[in-house]
Amino acid sequence: MKDIAHGLEGIVVAETALSHVDGERGELIIAGTRVDELSGVQKFEQVAATLWNVERVDLGPARVEAFARLSTLGGALELSDGMDALRAAMAQLPSSLDATHVTAAGGVFAAAWSRKRAGLAPIAPDPKLPHATDVLRMVKGEATDTLAAALDAYLVAVIDHGMNASTFTARVIASTQSDLVSAVTGAVGALKGPLHGGAPGPVLDMLEAVGRPENAEAWLRCELEAGRRVMGMGHRVYKVRDPRAAVLERAVEVLEKHGVSSSRLTLARAVEKVATRVLAARYPDRSLQANVEFYTAVLLDTVGLPRSLFTPMFAVGRVAGWCAHVAEQRATGRLIRPESRYVRPSKP
Ligand code: COA
Repeated sequence: MKDIAHGLEGIVVAETALSHVDGERGELIIAGTRVDELSGVQKFEQVAATLWNVERVDLGPARVEAFARLSTLGGALELSDGMDALRAAMAQLPSSLDATHVTAAGGVFAAAWSRKRAGLAPIAPDPKLPHATDVLRMVKGEATDTLAAALDAYLVAVIDHGMNASTFTARVIASTQSDLVSAVTGAVGALKGPLHGGAPGPVLDMLEAVGRPENAEAWLRCELEAGRRVMGMGHRVYKVRDPRAAVLERAVEVLEKHGVSSSRLTLARAVEKVATRVLAARYPDRSLQANVEFYTAVLLDTVGLPRSLFTPMFAVGRVAGWCAHVAEQRATGRLIRPESRYVRPSKP
């Protein structure tokens, strides 16, 4: 009988030139460059261009087109959860759209949803601005260079990450020769879950509940006793600290150097330290350390984004990676169709 690869752990399902996750060394390489040499160095559009194998990416005009579609989205942006809204809005894009238009739409729809949720009118895009700057401006009404640079560093840090669950979802859909919009819509659904992209909101809840470093140990022990997971800790592939945690922590430090103080950084560092120790004691055979979501919460909060927008903002960055994987799957892949083992007892 064939072995079952539960969760497909350790199974290689594709060759890719897009990104590489080295879980032992704690290294993430995106299109040939380490994430710490990309995030805060190259702009989101530049990294998207490398992933898409094109000279240059200009998302501005496509943002304007996406904004013009808002009136056609029905009640999608009225949904109370940001990822539900994004999924419903993306699903309504014409299936003929390309990577530029789909990626631009992600930013416009997430920002418009956030404005509507706050009872405010959506802000039209400025096509001349870089994507991160304009997305921030469409959410908050203004975007300083410092905050926009931090958001840009975030979008680059999360743009692609090997065969993660949402990327795999997109590739499965693409492997049937379905369209890019369908693949991205499915990927949004996969990203929503707390074991994938849904963790940063709960990380902020945790920091608020802990309140002060000296409360961390008792609070964390209580959570584990109750059978709950510590959000922002642990990873399927990384056996050491997620390199994106360091990149995002650094981005918060840069903000602080520019006078944008983070009320959470000191507490987050203290909670991470205690959580690492408490989890190591409880799971001595595993290495449960901070993942990308831990400092995502601190960074996006410091940038001034509401927590309801944290996971949609992850999608705003990752959508460029999904598009690249869909193109690669189409070019090099095969229908993805694993097997299952039938275990229902046969009728007597
Ligand atoms: N807090 C507490 N326990 C954790 C944990 C965490 N953050 N992460 C893993 N564990 C425990 C599980 O409870 C499980 O224990 P058990 O064997 O006693 O049931 C064990 O470690 C293995 O967990 P499993 O879910 O099989 O590992 P995985 O490789 O699938 O886990 C994650 C990867 C990311 C899903 C997991 O670490 C997690 O749930 N983290 C918290 C959510 C999060 O931060 N998500 C964002 C990911 S980028």
